[in-house]
Amino acid sequence: MKKDREEDRGFILEWLREENTERLRDLWRAADRTRRECVGEAVHLRALVEISNTCVRQCAYCGLRAGNAGLERYRMNREEILRCVRDSEALGIGTVVLQGAEDFGLSREWIADIVRQIKQETSMAVTLSLGERTIHELETWRDAGADRYFLRFETSDPDLYKRIHPPRRTRPISRIRLLQRLKNLGYETGSGVMIGIPGQSYTSLANDILLFRQLDLDMIGVGPWLPNPATPMGALRDMFPDCPDQVPNTEDMAYKVIALTRIHCPEANIPSTTALATLNAENGYERGLNRGANVIMPNCTPAGYRRKYEIYPKKVLLSHPKSNVEGICLRIASLGRQIGRGQGQRIRHEKCEKRYATLPMSTRGAA
Ligand code: 5AD
Repeated sequence: MKKDREEDRGFILEWLREENTERLRDLWRAADRTRRECVGEAVHLRALVEISNTCVRQCAYCGLRAGNAGLERYRMNREEILRCVRDSEALGIGTVVLQGAEDFGLSREWIADIVRQIKQETSMAVTLSLGERTIHELETWRDAGADRYFLRFETSDPDLYKRIHPPRRTRPISRIRLLQRLKNLGYETGSGVMIGIPGQSYTSLANDILLFRQLDLDMIGVGPWLPNPATPMGALRDMFPDCPDQVPNTEDMAYKVIALTRIHCPEANIPSTTALATLNAENGYERGLNRGANVIMPNCTPAGYRRKYEIYPKKVLLSHPKSNVEGICLRIASLGRQIGRGQGQRIRHEKCEKRYATLPMSTRGAA
């Protein structure tokens, strides 16, 4: 059965608007089943190392924006980063994510050298998440051995995108084009959006999910927008009014997006994100994992830096990476799932495409 975009959009919209708890169980079940059949029971861990909070950008939602004078800035040095990577490997984690703000101090050669060192010393996959960088930089890092790149497009609605991202002096390549370039360079490519940005409509969120599929993303990370009082969007809410068809930035909406993303991108690696765990410290991670997610990214940044990587006000515990990872492993085991071994890359299966192609068109038959 061949489906078209309009049918998919209708299906997604119906579910995004669904509020009935009983009916939503069908969605959770359908997502969980797709997850089990297409990516299995393994939960892959990715060690997140936040290497710099120094930023040249002015994104209206983000606490790391250059204009936030109240934030003390840091950049980890080579040895500190390598120590975190070695410690993460010793904890049995197969992927390290080097994430940073848009910091020109993270130069092309400096990052390339660290990537080469990690690939030489460890058997870990390396994911970079360093914002919008030049093709030359992305090529160099790929040649140095970087396996994956993660860059959220935040929203597929061009007007909303413009409203929350002040223009830059340099001409930006659009993030969506950049994602296509990343794929052509041979990176496993990841992206995602924030949920419940003021001005984000249900239709635009449905389009975001359709775009995940159209881009054939390998990794998809979504999480609720959390207001940060140190940003224009958090402090000057009137300047960013809601639209008539506003998506709420709630925990439930985040689960709906995770579940629908799993159904539409059955093979993707989908994390149960920190933003979710921030909204629900008690069982946000578990619910994400039971509603489509198959990845957790334990924060392995040294606590002194972690507290300064304040994208939004943090409520999650600032425990030592080792106890943090151990805690996460226990939580995964309590769900009857196992920790994934190896690098946990995306694996293509014909059966997943078939599963998507035979998906029911309406909420009535999702399970
Ligand atoms: N709430 C939730 N997510 C945020 N991000 C940035 N600021 C916020 C916020 N206030 C997310 C964006 C960005 C990533 C670094 O963090 O999606 O891509």
